[in-house]
Amino acid sequence: MIRAGMVATSAVALIVAGTFAVVVAGSSANAQTKTREAPLETKDAASMQPWKRYAGWPTRDMSKYNSLGHLATPPAPTEPRKIGNQIGGDAANGAKLVADRNRGGSCLACHVMGSAGNADLPGNAAPDLSEIGNAGREDEWLFNYVYDARVYNPETIMPPWGSHGFFNDQEINDIVAFLKTLKSPAAFKTALDDPNKRPAPVEKRDNLDSIENPAMWAVEKAQELWKLKSASGFSCNSCHSDPKETFKTWAASMPKWEPRLDKVLSVEEFVTRHAKATTGTVWLMETDENRAMSVYLHFLANGAPRKIDTSSAEAKAAIERGKVLSARKVGQLNMACTDCHGKAANHWIRGQWLGEPKGQYDHFPTWRTSLLAIWDIRQRFQWCQVNIRADELPPDAKEYGDLEFYLAMQNEGLKLSVPGIRH
Ligand code: HEC
Ligand code: HEC
Ligand code: HEC
Repeated sequence: MIRAGMVATSAVALIVAGTFAVVVAGSSANAQTKTREAPLETKDAASMQPWKRYAGWPTRDMSKYNSLGHLATPPAPTEPRKIGNQIGGDAANGAKLVADRNRGGSCLACHVMGSAGNADLPGNAAPDLSEIGNAGREDEWLFNYVYDARVYNPETIMPPWGSHGFFNDQEINDIVAFLKTLKSPAAFKTALDDPNKRPAPVEKRDNLDSIENPAMWAVEKAQELWKLKSASGFSCNSCHSDPKETFKTWAASMPKWEPRLDKVLSVEEFVTRHAKATTGTVWLMETDENRAMSVYLHFLANGAPRKIDTSSAEAKAAIERGKVLSARKVGQLNMACTDCHGKAANHWIRGQWLGEPKGQYDHFPTWRTSLLAIWDIRQRFQWCQVNIRADELPPDAKEYGDLEFYLAMQNEGLKLSVPGIRH
């Protein structure tokens, strides 16, 4: 709890600094019913401006396709292309193309394709095509299905390989020639190669053991930051001297609709805006300090069941927008969150298991063992966009707020367990 004296002093200091005025609880007649609002800096962006993609991530510009922030993808074809039924393709080249990870992950991401898939961790998010050569499909139909499957199935999750420029006509001919050679069931060398036998990953490590989970450093680091005095002489500790007690459920109530910002506010964005307004420190989203503080605030609420406030009309509208965004097809691969984490959930996409939304949120921010880094949920959203060749948005984008709010709603009641550990 805040000591009244402290708040008064800080309010004075900060008014002098010209940033905001703290509303001191108890000064109003009906103090019991009035909850004090946490000061927030509301004018500046909470992340680096202009946003610059993380070092090491692909640098492609995908602005001619939809993102979660803008619509640009060209319309789907309405008619199959007339190309006749004598496609002369090179099946050997086709066999290489279907396994080419540089072409949007290519076909083996979702389909088992006979011998082509063996030992290359094919996925099973789509039907096994090992015997498609016996299906009596015409060349023209196969060509069009690969070129842009939406012409036959508007609901498909299959990327438009031709119309979005992954393969040219000759390459699709080669792929069709290869598909026609597929006439016998796939034989796998090991159970791991077969996506239907590959065991789903189970995370069993003790995520609160600092030897098992290097992200526990963030909890240590945040406790130092908590007491670190800013240039104006304030630390978090000046106003919150017993965070373990004060914040033992707070993170489980986030994110929330924030009228002062007219958007959904996450823990990480709160940290940026509240720190700036109170101590004057700048801890932008996706910096080490911000991640550490977010891990700590979540850690303090470990074990608390997620319970967000969706009662206001604005909150309900945000959830609805989040739902729509999660179904928006984006990027060159033209995929939506609901394609991978809905229609194809609990299947493999290549060697990666696709989880469903429930259970995807309780462990964030989380340690990525494959990257030796802590990711907050916004960075995860960004990767799930860049990976399907869509442009990501800055982490404080209002669209991510809506999406996170919707994800939180699907995770209601699940207990926080932070920092998590994931591959
Ligand atoms: C993201 C997953 C995904 C990827 C990657 C993918 N497909 Fe598909 N594909 C599907 C799904 C799902 C179907 C089932 C029908 C549908 O939903 O359109 C399908 C159906 C097909 C069919 C029709 C099969 C039939 O007889 O009905 C063909 C042919 C096909 N895919 C070829 C390919 C080729 C070739 C590639 C690579 C260039 C590829 N697919 C990559 C998801 C995928
Ligand atoms: C000048 C005083 C002051 C400082 C410094 C301060 N806070 Fe706060 N904080 C408040 C007030 C006022 C509230 C509103 C709730 C309350 O009265 O406890 C609040 C609320 C919070 C909440 C709960 C949010 C909510 O919506 O109720 C968190 C979490 C928090 N602060 C974290 C921090 C962190 C982290 C720091 C250090 C960067 C910090 N605070 C520094 C005054 C301060
Ligand atoms: C091409 C398929 C694909 C699409 C589309 C996709 N994701 Fe993912 N996503 C993955 C894969 C693969 C992983 C890592 C494996 C896993 O944990 O499911 C992942 C992981 C995640 C996780 C972390 C899961 C965990 O338990 O740690 C979240 C959250 C998530 N995605 C959200 C989204 C959202 C929101 C969207 C839409 C904006 C989206 N994804 C779009 C493939 C996809």
